[in-house]
Order: sequence, then structure tokens, then C-alpha cells
Amino acid sequence: MNIAGVILAAGLGKRMSSSAPKVLHKIYGTPMLHYVLHRIHELNPQKVIVVVGKHCKEIKDTLEHVDSISFVYQREAKGTGDALLKAEQALKGFQGTVLVVNGDTPLIRRETLKKFLNLHKQKKNAISVLSFIAPNPGSYGRIIRDDSDRAVSIIEDRDATIIQKGIKEVNSGIYAIESEVLPLLKGIKLNESKGEYYLTDVISIAYDKGVRVDAFCIGSEDELMGVNTQGEIEKVRRIMREMIAQEWLKKGVNFVDINSVFISLNVTIGRDTQIYPNVYLEGSTKIGKGCTIYPNVRVLDSTIGDGAVIKDFTLIEGSVVKERASIGPFARIRPGSQIGEEARIGNFVEVKKSVIGSGTKAGHLSYLGDAKIGNNVNIGAGTITCNYDGHKKYITVIEDDVFVGSDSQLIAPVKVGRGAFIGAGSTITKDVSSMALATSRVKQRNIEDWVRKKQLKVKSEKLRVRKKAKR
Ligand code: UD1
Ligand code: CA
Repeated sequence: MNIAGVILAAGLGKRMSSSAPKVLHKIYGTPMLHYVLHRIHELNPQKVIVVVGKHCKEIKDTLEHVDSISFVYQREAKGTGDALLKAEQALKGFQGTVLVVNGDTPLIRRETLKKFLNLHKQKKNAISVLSFIAPNPGSYGRIIRDDSDRAVSIIEDRDATIIQKGIKEVNSGIYAIESEVLPLLKGIKLNESKGEYYLTDVISIAYDKGVRVDAFCIGSEDELMGVNTQGEIEKVRRIMREMIAQEWLKKGVNFVDINSVFISLNVTIGRDTQIYPNVYLEGSTKIGKGCTIYPNVRVLDSTIGDGAVIKDFTLIEGSVVKERASIGPFARIRPGSQIGEEARIGNFVEVKKSVIGSGTKAGHLSYLGDAKIGNNVNIGAGTITCNYDGHKKYITVIEDDVFVGSDSQLIAPVKVGRGAFIGAGSTITKDVSSMALATSRVKQRNIEDWVRKKQLKVKSEKLRVRKKAKR
């Protein structure tokens, strides 16, 4: 099937009471529009067109990394009919089915879109509408059917009679339109009461001309609801959270409390991974098999290897944690880091843009930034790589099997050779050769009986003062 996707995203979203464009409101870190785009892309369309308006720049900026999208500009939000008409130019030369989707329908599933397109094809319709049953149809457009049960028009809630308002079958804002009937859009007249051109009017225009139209009532409100208010975004969040969590539950992920875990749409999780409450897995995160993620952890755009353990109150961003590593509690892994197999990053350790080798341990209170640390290194408590001189950042290299004593500072750029030993409390400013000992503390001095002598001195002084007072 030859498909072109058109997403309508030029509306003002007034009902959101927000200065941000409606379609960029985020659901678990991802703008609503991106969910819709993702679904369209899954259908392998020949082209994808997004109709943008006043917020055109902001919307384009969020999609910079996605190729194969053309943007069409609707200067004034004059309605959904006008929006699609603007896209018509960009569809010149395209022959096939134009799938039109409102940009505010983020819960739509691939299976439903496929089923809809198949029905459209099978029934040889020129225009099809995807409808659903809404127990409280509210502001949705109502589907009007003729005696033979064919959809003949869509009446917007504000224009509906009392009887029509009672109809529960409503328009989802998703349409399949054959390219050759696109010229019918030109017949849409201004709706005087709203001052807009309604795309929905194309149904009655087509029907009156004897063009084959119909509505397919598939899918549910939970999937097809449109978002117009902040309250509806909240509802979408809840539905999406439940839907995604249920999916991973089926795939063998174990949740201690499924109601408090937040997983973004593109996240993947391996089987037998156990997830504790209040965990956020966001962006393009991939969690391996048999991992344990303890409470209050957030992982963003990161890959966690099989069998890794992420302990309480840990934040991991843009990094790779390899198999069976252990991170936290209270650890922070900043973007560009790689934590090796079976490595251990303990409490109050911050790692930034650093490679930590396998089996290496940094158990407590450290800052490791711009460092390349080899395998089986011991990083003592309180170790700091001093990577910044106020102007530039420098690299610290620590080779395999090095022992860094507690409370050491490594002033970058500096290199510590394989197997070297840094004495606790050292400030390392020069490279250390392999197998050497480096210490930089002041030599210890012990003065025998110093305390006793001091006490005697204090005692005799007190005696002298008292005698003087008696006199
Ligand atoms: C629309 C439908 C309604 C349907 C509902 C489904 C019309 C007239 N009504 O109503 O039948 O039940 O969706 O959720 O189509 N947009 C533009 N340019 C504009 C106006 C809107 O691109 O000038 C975009 C919006 O950004 C939005 C989509 O079109 O993504 C729908 O617009 P919206 O104002 O939300 O329509 P509804 O009132 O929800
Ligand atoms: Ca809407």
C-alpha cells in the first residue's frame, strides 16, 4: 500500500492554557507529536508531512534529528480542513492513500492503524474515518449514519442538535483519503459559528457526490482520545504508563509495585529483571536481562548490561553500564560514561565522561571526570580527578591494577602507570610510572610525651595563679 502520512499540528491549543505548543507537551520526556510520528513511520510511508503553524520553529527544532519529514506552514489556524489543504501542495504527484492524523492523539497503536488501512482498502472506500465509542462524547465530532448504516457526515459537538449530541460514535481525527479525491477539500466551506474550515465536512461533501465513504468503529477511547486540556494529558500519561508496564509484565519483567514505575515508549527491558518502586526509565534506555533496579532510580538514554544492579537513589544519563556492574546507592553517572563489567560504583560517587574498566571499584565519595581508568583499579574513598583549571578540561589516565589510596587528588593531565600505588592523601601532579609508589604528603613527626608535658605545664600555671590570689 502506497501511504503518505499527514499530521495536523498547527492548532493553537488554547484549551491547554499554556504558552508551549500543545503537540510539544511531553509524556514521560517525549513530546506528544513524536508518539504520533513514531506510529506513522512504522507504516513505512512514502512521505511524511507535518502541518505546523505559529509554533513552527519550536516544533521543527525537536525534530531536527528525524529525516524524511516535510513541513508545511499554515500561517493562521483556520481549522483542520484548511490545514490539510495546505498539505495538498506537498502531496502533488503522490498517488495512493493519504493517512491524516491529528497531532494530539498520542496513544494510537500501530495495529489499529494497520487494521483501519486494511478495511479502507478492502471496502474500496475513497475516504474512511476511524471512529470509536465514547461513553461521554463531550467535544468529539459525532458520526452520522444513513439507513444502510453508512457514515454520511460528521457533526461537531457545538453544531449538533440535542438528539445528535446523544450519539456515542465519534470521530478520532484519523482519516484515510485516496489521493485522487483530495480536490474535494476545496469544497469545504467556512463554518460560521467557529470561523474555521472543518476537515470533517469532507465526509458529507464526498457522500453527496456519490464518492464511497464510511467510518470504521475500531479501537477504544483509551487509545484514540484526543488531548485538548492539561487534564487529558494527565489521563494519557496514566493510560500510557499502565499500557507500557503491562506489556513488560507480559515479557517477563518483575515489578514490586507496577503502579509507581514509569517507562518511556522506546525503552526495552530484558526478562527476569526486577524493578522496585519509583523507578523512571526514560528516552532510549535499554535494560538487560536479570538486572535489579532498586527504588528511586532514574535512567535516561542509557544501556544497562545483563545482571547489573542499580541501587537506591541513583541517576544514570547517556551512559553504558556493562554486565554485572553495581552502581549506587546515591551514585550519579553523567553522560558519556562507560562502566565496565563487574565494576562497582558506590555511594556518593560522581562519574562524568569517563571510562571505568572491568572489576574496578570506586566505593565511596569520589569525583571521576574525564578519566580513563583501566581494569581492577581500586579508587579509594574521597579520590578526586581534578580535571578543570578554570579554562580547559584535562584527562586523567589510570592504567590496570593501580591502587589509589583514599583522599587523593590527581591533577590532570596526569597518567598513573599499570600496577602503581598512590599513598593515601596524596596530590599527584606528575605522571607515575608502572609499579611505582607515589606519595606527596608531609612526613609524619611524633614527639614523645608531648601531651603529658603540656598537661604538667597547665597544672603548674593554675597553681601559681591560685597562690597569687590568696596573697
Ligand atoms: C477534532 C475534530 C473532531 C474530532 C476530534 C478528535 C475537526 C473540525 N474536529 O476536533 O471531529 O472528534 O478532533 O480528537 O476536525 N489543527 C491544525 N490547524 C488548525 C486547527 C487544528 O493543524 O487550524 C490541528 C491541531 O494542532 C490538532 C488537530 O488539528 O492536532 C485537531 O485540532 P483540534 O482543535 O484539537 O480539534 P478538536 O476540536 O479536538
Ligand atoms: Ca483535539
